[in-house]
Amino acid sequence: MKKIKVLSVFGTRPEAIKMCPLVSELASRDTFSSRVCVTGQHREMLDSVLGVFGVQPDYDLNIMEKGQTLSDVTCRILERLGGALRDAAPDIVLVHGDTTTTFASALAAFYEKITVGHVEAGLRTGDRWSPYPEELNRCMVGRLAEYHFAPTVRNRENLLREAVGGAIYVTGNTAIDAMRFTVNDRPFTDERLNAVDFSSRRVVAMTCHRRENYGRPMENIFTAVARLAESYPDILVVFPVHLSPVVRETAKKYLSGRENILLIDPLDAMDMHKLMSRSYMVLTDSGGIQEEAPALGKPVLVMRRETERPEAIAAGTAALAGVETENILRLASELLDNPCRYDEMAHAVNPYGDGRAAERIADALEYGFGLREAPPQDFAP
Ligand code: UD1
Ligand code: UDP
Repeated sequence: MKKIKVLSVFGTRPEAIKMCPLVSELASRDTFSSRVCVTGQHREMLDSVLGVFGVQPDYDLNIMEKGQTLSDVTCRILERLGGALRDAAPDIVLVHGDTTTTFASALAAFYEKITVGHVEAGLRTGDRWSPYPEELNRCMVGRLAEYHFAPTVRNRENLLREAVGGAIYVTGNTAIDAMRFTVNDRPFTDERLNAVDFSSRRVVAMTCHRRENYGRPMENIFTAVARLAESYPDILVVFPVHLSPVVRETAKKYLSGRENILLIDPLDAMDMHKLMSRSYMVLTDSGGIQEEAPALGKPVLVMRRETERPEAIAAGTAALAGVETENILRLASELLDNPCRYDEMAHAVNPYGDGRAAERIADALEYGFGLREAPPQDFAP
């Protein structure tokens, strides 16, 4: 039987967490010949995810260098991916999301005249500078791709408005598929987290890493968190710090040496998802965490000026806190002081997926390549 030859290309932690469920789904079907290429835009943080999901790449471009610029990453991928594409000769290259790996890999595939499929397509803020450079990465991949896997109806509408062409499927987000595997009652791998008493202490899980927050916004955010920890000595802030040197230096300067702020290395995906599921609330500028915390029923304050993921805000589990110290402090304090406000936000919502996104994407590919009669039914929350 004819098999669809797929090469999935990804390179950073969030892409890996969200692509691994799809890689597993493709591997489980005899309609696909599935291979994986990692760019290695991230190294330790990528390898950790591959370990958790048991995925072994067929190609590793190994491009990461300390302090890499966006141009460095783009150029190295364009230089190195062509060989893997010619060797694998796939029918379709699948990329994910909005990183520089996503854009450069889609461009390299286009240069080889290979069809591109875009997983997590159609998210938009409408502001080219925020998230930077992700908003335009995502828009450009929208033009390069012929298959668009949009997590939500709103994402599909964005693509239709831009008249990107090609086939659009509403699939849900594979992040929710990943959580079916990662969230469980087992102990943490990280021993420092096993020492935390989540039942007697309110734990605030936090992350912050975005480029548009480098500098003043990140300083404001960390100042807010430091003041929050001072005002509420009973809480424990747990902050697994991204390996970006900019983030690490700023975090150390503003947040180290405090009894109730735990600065730790990045967690593997299982520990991170478990940490969120056992926490009181979440503070973040992460994209993926904005999808995961609502699914766990954890109030999440989004420390950004805008978001391309407004669905959980509309549903009430997330709130846009901005990047000004006073506002973040006010909203976080409200959640700690006001049980009614907390209860209003703390309900599980799944506007982003139902755990079956990978299945729908695989079905859509079978349909698109003539191996299935009917397209998948759209995800509807
Ligand atoms: C990238 C993505 C961003 C995504 C984030 C997820 C782009 C432009 N940005 O940003 O969309 O939200 O990944 O985390 O693609 N580093 C290590 N080891 C690692 C990972 C990173 O040392 O395992 C260090 C490197 O020094 C690197 C720096 O972190 O220079 C920044 O990494 P980079 O991939 O350039 O950008 P991110 O901020 O991680
Ligand atoms: N994450 C993780 N360990 C951490 C911090 C985050 O596994 O220490 C997970 C998080 O749960 C989510 C993904 O990484 O699944 C999000 O990645 P990140 O915040 O780096 O990027 P973004 O989603 O903002 O692009």
